[in-house]
Amino acid sequence: MSSNQESWGSRLGLILAMAGNAVGLGNFLRFPVQAIQNGGGAFIIPYLVCFLLMGIPLLWVEWATGRFGGKKGNHSTPFILHELDPKRALWKYVGVFGIFTNIAVAAYYCYLESWTLNYVWMFIQGGFDGMGQDGVANYFASYITMNQNHTAIYFWLLCLLLNTYILSKGLSGGVEKAAKVGMPLLLLFGLFLAYKGITLKAGEFGALLDGTVGLNFLWTPNFDSIWNTKVWLAAAGQIFFTLSVGMGSIQCYAAYVRSKQDIALNAMSAGWMNEFVEVVLGSSILIPIAIGYLGVDQVVELTKSGGLGLGFKTLPYLFTQWGPLMGAVAGTCWFGLLFFAGITSSLAMGTPVMAFLRDEFGWKRGPSAWTFGLIVLVLGAPTVFFFNEGVFDEYDYWAGTVSLVLFALLEVILFAWVFGMDKGWKEINEGADMKIPTVYRFIIQYVTPLILLAVFLGSLPDIISKIQNPGNHYVQGARILLLALYAGIAYAVYVAYRRRKTRI
Ligand code: ALA
Repeated sequence: MSSNQESWGSRLGLILAMAGNAVGLGNFLRFPVQAIQNGGGAFIIPYLVCFLLMGIPLLWVEWATGRFGGKKGNHSTPFILHELDPKRALWKYVGVFGIFTNIAVAAYYCYLESWTLNYVWMFIQGGFDGMGQDGVANYFASYITMNQNHTAIYFWLLCLLLNTYILSKGLSGGVEKAAKVGMPLLLLFGLFLAYKGITLKAGEFGALLDGTVGLNFLWTPNFDSIWNTKVWLAAAGQIFFTLSVGMGSIQCYAAYVRSKQDIALNAMSAGWMNEFVEVVLGSSILIPIAIGYLGVDQVVELTKSGGLGLGFKTLPYLFTQWGPLMGAVAGTCWFGLLFFAGITSSLAMGTPVMAFLRDEFGWKRGPSAWTFGLIVLVLGAPTVFFFNEGVFDEYDYWAGTVSLVLFALLEVILFAWVFGMDKGWKEINEGADMKIPTVYRFIIQYVTPLILLAVFLGSLPDIISKIQNPGNHYVQGARILLLALYAGIAYAVYVAYRRRKTRI
């Protein structure tokens, strides 16, 4: 039925694109801050448990669901889920999440991505030289305040154009090429900065402490917080965000995998690559360098307001302490790696809506990509213009946190209980290049849904309190926009379904 007959150019390209989807700003900015806020070493235990019992199973479920849908010409979650249980209309509308979340996350994520592009430009020009700590902090504050400065708008538009252009070149001609260039560079920059972070010496270039002090702080267990629900919810939230599970982009990428091609090993290669980048590189840059210069207490204080301040205000200034040349190299590497991490993830966010338009309405690649760009422009504008009013955080809460858990919970129920574990397990193992431990059959059927349910129920008090406290007008407007987006996509799915029926 679909004219959308693309596939990945090579296995390496597929793995790099999937790893690129997962490896993102979350690995370098969100993870270290979450770890510090939640007890350093105490965080890693719930984090690993969530990875093994929730992250890995969801990766297999999403890859399998995607490839299964792709065999029948479905490349976006509304009709991929529908394919698993064609008798019930409900799943198509659950699948709306898989388009909604990607668009809504892209709307704020691309803005963040565009900051990194601006900072690369600043470092290449030596724009931070001699600015001092307050100077760098003021630069950031003025950059995100629209009535002071329009530079952010130009870089944001540039970033959107770049994303849209690459998407318009297709999977093997655009996304895969971007991943093949971006991922190796990201690893190279990351390894260089991690080396600098770990080998930072007290007394050199004004550092107060060795880089290892930050690492020790991050990884020294504090078992007091291990029984704290908040730590578990934070760990689960990080696993979702970092692996891009519960979003709908993995299913979409996997729908373009050939029908007999392995997914079991591919899913693990991409997933473990993400974990290496997150746990090894993500821990060894921001925190060791920041603690080396500022000490533990100040960094803990700074992480209370999130990771953005540390990444965009503190680190650029600290790099300038390394002298003009090394400072410029380190700054370019840091923001360059953030940019590559960001763009390989935002490209994955564009693919589901394009796939939907191509599958259901026969659109060509170019117009579908530009439509995605336009929607993100409109939906992203409030995050750009009203960043300081809380719109960015509001999108992140509903789309980047709550939707992921809800969608993952529903999809795993559909996969394990409605589609059925016999068929599901067969689907995961079809063409597998590795032996999946049989215990995962049990985990997918019982443990993962229960953990997801617990995470959802654990988040409910916070969700209810958010609903009861609607916030300022900008935040309320953001909620209306998000609801309108969900309703709009659901309507498009309804129209597409009717078109399918008339075609039969
Ligand atoms: N997985 C992506 C990230 O970590 C969204 O940023």
